Amino acid sequence: MSEPILRLDKVSVQFNDTFAVKDASLTINEGDFFGIVGPSGAGKSTLVRTVNLLQKPTLGKVFFEGVEITALNKKDLRQTRLKIGMIFQHFNLIKNSSVLDNVCFALKAAGAPKDEIKKKALFWLDRVGLKDKASLFPSDLSGGQKQRVAIARALANEPKILLCDEATSALDPNNTKEVVNTLKEIKSHYPITVLFITHQMEVARTLFNKIAVMDSGKIIEQGLCYDVFANPQHEITKSLVSSSWHLELPHEVFLHEKELFVITYSGNNAYEPLISKVSRDFAVQVPIVGGKIEYISGKPLGILVIGIQGNAENRTAAINFIKTQARLDRLTYKED
Ligand SMILES: Nc1ncnc2c1ncn2[C@@H]1O[C@H](COP(=O)(O)OP(=O)(O)OP(=O)(O)O)[C@@H](O)[C@H]1O
Ligand SMILES: [Mg+2]
Repeated sequence: MSEPILRLDKVSVQFNDTFAVKDASLTINEGDFFGIVGPSGAGKSTLVRTVNLLQKPTLGKVFFEGVEITALNKKDLRQTRLKIGMIFQHFNLIKNSSVLDNVCFALKAAGAPKDEIKKKALFWLDRVGLKDKASLFPSDLSGGQKQRVAIARALANEPKILLCDEATSALDPNNTKEVVNTLKEIKSHYPITVLFITHQMEVARTLFNKIAVMDSGKIIEQGLCYDVFANPQHEITKSLVSSSWHLELPHEVFLHEKELFVITYSGNNAYEPLISKVSRDFAVQVPIVGGKIEYISGKPLGILVIGIQGNAENRTAAINFIKTQARLDRLTYKED
């Protein structure tokens, strides 16, 4: 197998007497759309800043295409950084320059041949669907359009990896969708690798093939995006995943049912036989009160909210049996 694009080996970052990142290891392969999620203050931004050494790790090593960049001299590091593009939550465009000049500026700074600069900039503006806005200024654009300019600017130098720190977090849902679709579209045509930080779990499950969850500086869980959403292990991950399904139900449903449960099943496990078997074998009723199918990395994941009615003994037996067949979590009441 070829060398991974990026490998973090036990990276820690210490500020004063606290660790913002502790012992974080991860591997990103060419073509990955790798996401990092986690609550505010988890250390996501600090971790991503170690990738291009905007933040120097206190301990640990960073490898880019197999080369330990934590050991490079300034000149070699500068060369490596050209292969690492970055976009930010607040776009960081130059206000007094046109859209075109914003992209050209990045190409100039990276030493692109003079006669290619404008052509390349227009090519990338076209790729993000903004060629016709080239002469406008950032203030003339929507948030989604500004971020698409930032994407064009970052990709114009053809980096190997694009780092995105909360690139959609300042945007409303429509603009978020616009930026997400732009990234997906580009990704389907170019062999770019993306490392994307977000606290928006809906963005995470539509974009990523792999995901790492951070909390208190540590990576607490990582794996294929589908697997993490289908079967979260850590309490923090469970809570992030569960709230991302938006299973809020009216209070009346909770008054009516003693307890509600969420069954998560992968698309090829049909739930009907399980529900009917449980009601038959354990003499309980299993009303279905909500549910949906989500697609993650193109694969269906079913989420079903059920009640379990019957005497206590039968209910316990039914619950225990379901747990041997599928993932079952208790659903707690949340105000909308
Ligand atoms: N330069 C710094 N000096 C001191 N402490 C810092 C510095 N940068 C970050 N921290 C602390 O490190 C911790 C992790 O911060 P970081 O910004 O990486 O979190 P985050 O996961 O990106 O959070 P958010 O989702 O809010 O962006 C926080 O407790 C933060 O206060
Ligand atoms: Mg952050």
